[in-house]
Amino acid sequence: MNTATIISHSLEETLNLGEKIGRQVKEATVIALSGDLGSGKTVFVQGLAKGLNVPSDYYVTSPTYTLINEYPGRIKLFHIDLYRISGFNELEEIGIYDIVYGNHITAIEWPDRFDGELPGNHLKIRIEIIDENSRKFSFYASGTQKNPLITLLKESK
Ligand SMILES: Nc1ncnc2c1ncn2[C@@H]1O[C@H](COP(=O)(O)OP(=O)(O)OP(=O)(O)O)[C@@H](O)[C@H]1O
Ligand SMILES: [Mg+2]
Repeated sequence: MNTATIISHSLEETLNLGEKIGRQVKEATVIALSGDLGSGKTVFVQGLAKGLNVPSDYYVTSPTYTLINEYPGRIKLFHIDLYRISGFNELEEIGIYDIVYGNHITAIEWPDRFDGELPGNHLKIRIEIIDENSRKFSFYASGTQKNPLITLLKESK
């Protein structure tokens, strides 16, 4: 199996989910986060950063205007938000291909605006808003870490 589904009932549960993934992930991976505005993509990345030991004085926010933020950690973390990307030319300008295919962790919000193939090691996450505090997370893992990641997610149910 390479899929898992988890319901998060609060912001804290989503932070914990991200942190668990951040602690487990061992090699370069792209984490593609889809879901409506306010579904919890950035909250998940805040947890992910904690799990990757990004120092707590870095505050992880949506890079909506800067498009890309970079954080030092156990493995370097790039956080990309393509919501405001104006076209494929801009993807080239911001150097997204070097980041996505580079040797680190890359979390991407609005990944459907990226025109390239995701590298073999990736985790796709779709978040659906159920109600004010509940979110349904659907995970699809690919690559060398898919078994440990999916096992971990199934254990956190
Ligand atoms: N279970 C939950 N998990 C995550 N966030 C939740 C949850 N319940 C409520 N929230 C709220 O939902 C919002 C999620 O905001 P966040 O910035 O992470 O969304 P986003 O998906 O990154 O949106 P955008 O596309 O605008 O960047 C926050 O206000 C948070 O408090
Ligand atoms: Mg966001």
